[in-house]
Amino acid sequence: MTSVPQPYTNDDTSSFAHTSVTQRWPAILEGVTRDLIEASESASGEARDEAVTIASDVGSFISDIAANHELVPLAEDASFTEENLRWQSAPWLYSECYLYRKTQLFFDRSKFWKNYDMFRHSKEQTFFKSSEAVATLADRYVQVASQVTAQLKSDQLALKVLFHELLNTSLWGNATDLSLLVTVNLEELKRLQVAAEDRDKESVLSQDFEGIWKHMWGEKGGRVDFVLDNAGFELYTDLIFALFLLDTGLAEQVVFHPKSQPWFVSDVIPADWAHLLDMLSETSHFPKNPDALHSIVKRLEQVQNEGQLILRPNKFWTTPLPFWEIREGGIHGGDSVWRDLRGSKLVFFKGDLNYRKLTGDVAWPRDTPFKMAIRELAGSGVKIVSLRTIKADVCVGLPPGKDKELERVWAEEHPGKPGISWAWSGNYAVVQAHL
Ligand code: F6P
Ligand code: MG
Repeated sequence: MTSVPQPYTNDDTSSFAHTSVTQRWPAILEGVTRDLIEASESASGEARDEAVTIASDVGSFISDIAANHELVPLAEDASFTEENLRWQSAPWLYSECYLYRKTQLFFDRSKFWKNYDMFRHSKEQTFFKSSEAVATLADRYVQVASQVTAQLKSDQLALKVLFHELLNTSLWGNATDLSLLVTVNLEELKRLQVAAEDRDKESVLSQDFEGIWKHMWGEKGGRVDFVLDNAGFELYTDLIFALFLLDTGLAEQVVFHPKSQPWFVSDVIPADWAHLLDMLSETSHFPKNPDALHSIVKRLEQVQNEGQLILRPNKFWTTPLPFWEIREGGIHGGDSVWRDLRGSKLVFFKGDLNYRKLTGDVAWPRDTPFKMAIRELAGSGVKIVSLRTIKADVCVGLPPGKDKELERVWAEEHPGKPGISWAWSGNYAVVQAHL
């Protein structure tokens, strides 16, 4: 088997790891204390005292990171037992997961704040800001659903066009160009889709859509899984995509895999699902297209009640482990996730962090084949699709020379910003599959 490159580490000044440890993480943790103190203002005296203690623990934690202290193994979680690591030089993926796990432990040890979601406030605020896009997509989906007839279900070309549209909406879920989602009929959409394909050619650097569609069409029904990423608008696009799969019979069941604790600020935890449906019903925040939104919420409740849409957390997703552990005998939950995902026709891994874990967050040359970078997972029998907008250094499956070309174009378009990479921008994406 090929040797595995070194992981990205926090002392690598050319990696986003370095910006993370020096700037991003302190700012995120400061936000946690600010929101906690604000939330505690309406709490009882004892709860307020506890909040002050937690805020001070988080404050000391921020100082530990700046002072380059050790990442002491976590007694409460056997997946965080690496020794002799220091904040300013530790592997990026391990230390970033450790950061969220350790912070949650301050809350877990308390009496009043165990179930408090340290990122709820920021997730909510961001979602409210996307109300225009939410309304547009609601309208669009109601229109799509009204076209789903027995005839459409057997029209491979029409279904493929819609599948592509909704897959793209889910891919660009946190920065989607919703200009496509105007009220158009299917013929107009097919024409517009050509424009989307041109955009795809520029921004999607590695594109396995044709194979994914062939797989979906060749095996209708069955179960499709989403290893989720962010709450709010992205979760909403995933839900709409899931409804489409169910409504068209491309899947009989969809399983969503959220995180078990607040994670990487915006990731979905189980409570976010019900909260999303509640928020969508609040006309003060989502005033446009209330009828379309109402019918989507009703339909989502229905598919959930009928067991067609299931939420299934597993603590494996909040370990620091690469997904190479999703295999028979995989440690810290890897084995149970493997047993579960083997039963799926296709598993969508959403977003950047899931991609870092698929590829181990190591410095693969960027033309390494995706299959090689996912290592043991390639032989696990799990059918993998990554829908990822690129926000971190690791990236594989690019044509030879493409990385150099992107670096050159980025440097030309961003003069005066040396040391910042095209790969951190979120402007590009990959749709990569191993089926
Ligand atoms: O690369 C920056 C970053 O914040 C990483 O910490 C993390 O991998 C990613 O972005 C989170 O993005 P996503 O929500 O797409 O996983
Ligand atoms: Mg995320």
